[in-house]
Amino acid sequence: MTDPASERRHLATALVNKGVLKASWLRAAVETVSREQFLRPGVFLDEGRTWRPVTADGANPDDWLKIAYSVDTLTTQLDGHLTADQAGGPVVGVPTSSSTDPATVVGMIEALDLSAGHRVLEIGTGTGYSTALMCHYLGEDNVATVEVDAQVAARADAALEAVGFSTWTVTDDGLLGHPYRAPYDRVIATCAVRRIPYAWIRQTNLGGIVLGTVGSWPWGTGLAKLTVGDDGTAEGRIVGRSSFMQARAQAVAPLAGDLSARSAYADSERRVLVSPLVLEEWMPAFLAQLAAPGAQFVRATGGDGSPLRYLFDPERESFAEFLVDGESWTVRQGGPVALWDDVERSLVAWQDAGAPEIDCVRLRVTPASHQYWIDQAPSLRWEDRIT
Ligand SMILES: C[S@@+](CC[C@H](N)C(=O)[O-])C[C@H]1O[C@@H](n2cnc3c(N)ncnc32)[C@H](O)[C@@H]1O
Repeated sequence: MTDPASERRHLATALVNKGVLKASWLRAAVETVSREQFLRPGVFLDEGRTWRPVTADGANPDDWLKIAYSVDTLTTQLDGHLTADQAGGPVVGVPTSSSTDPATVVGMIEALDLSAGHRVLEIGTGTGYSTALMCHYLGEDNVATVEVDAQVAARADAALEAVGFSTWTVTDDGLLGHPYRAPYDRVIATCAVRRIPYAWIRQTNLGGIVLGTVGSWPWGTGLAKLTVGDDGTAEGRIVGRSSFMQARAQAVAPLAGDLSARSAYADSERRVLVSPLVLEEWMPAFLAQLAAPGAQFVRATGGDGSPLRYLFDPERESFAEFLVDGESWTVRQGGPVALWDDVERSLVAWQDAGAPEIDCVRLRVTPASHQYWIDQAPSLRWEDRIT
C-alpha cells in the first residue's frame, strides 16, 4: 500500500535534487500538503490525441497516489466545463484548468522571495494546490486567490478547507486583481497574460513583487518578475521561459474564415532575410510578440502540399504570408502594418547581438505601456502602448 507521506517526501527530494526547491519552509509545505486532495474529482491524462479520465474514486488507490505525486502537470478541466467524472472514456478537448507541474509551482513560489507575514494575491487558483503551499507558510489570512471559473473556484475552496485552510478564494476575473484585500506584498499569476494588468501593480506595496507569464502564443512566453517602484511603475526582467494557459479574458480566439481571403491583397512582396521557421523557436517567438503585439502565427499547408506560414493581426487588418520555393522564402505583406518588416528587424538585431537568451530581456510597466529592452543590444527596444 502506497504511503502518501512518503510520496510527498519523494516529491520534495526530487525537487531539491532538481535544484528548484531551496527554502526549508517550502520543503516542509511540499512534505505536508496532500496534492491528491486537490485533484478531485479526477484528472485527464494526456494520451496524444485524446485525454483519458482517471477519477479519485474510480482509480486503484496506489495508482491514484502515483499520479498525484508525479512530476507532471495534471489537467483537471477541458473546454471550460468537463471534469473527469463526467467523461465516460477518452475524449478530445482543450485544457482549461490544471494542477501545474510541481517543479514549476515550486520554482515560481521560490521566485517570490516570500517572508513570514507577506500578503499574497494569486491569480488563477486552479486546483488550489499552489495556494495551499503558500498558506502553509504564510497562514490562510495572508493569501487571497482569484479564479475566473466558478466551478473550479468552488472545488479549490473545498479542497483548501479539507486540508485545513479557510483561504480567501474569490471567483472573478483576476485581471482586475482583488482590490478589497489590497495592498499585497506579492502578486503571482499562474495563467499567462498578454500584458501585466496595471491593477496588479497598483495593488502591490512599494518594493513588492509581481510575477507572471507574458505573451499570447502557446510558446515563446516568458516569466516576468517586476519590483514595484515609488513612481507607480514596476521594473524587472524576464527571468526565464514559462508556459501557462492564457487568462480567459485574453485568450486569443482561433482565426475564423479562409486564410487565403485574409491574405488576398498584398501591398508588397520580397525575399526574407530570416526564415519564418525561426518563429517556431522560443526566443524568436518571444521577440516576434514584442515587435508585433497582437499578431498570431499560423501554420498551414497549401493545396500542393507546400508549407505555408502566416502572421495575422486581425485587429489591425494586417498580414504577412510566407511562401517557400526550395529553401528560400518570400513574404507578401498587406495592411497598414508591415508585420514581418517589424519582426525581421528585431530578429536581425538580436542575431547581431549574439542571440541573447530570454533572461536578458528587461521590462518596465507603466499605467500606459510595457517597455521591453535588451541591454546588450541598444537598438532592441519595444513599446506596447495601451491606446
Ligand atoms: C494552470 S491553472 C492554475 C494552476 C494552479 N495554480 C495549480 O497549480 O493548481 C490556470 C487557472 O487560471 C484560471 N484563469 C484563467 N483566466 C483567469 C482569469 N482571467 N482570472 C482568474 N483565473 C483565471 C483558469 O481557470 C485555471 O484554473
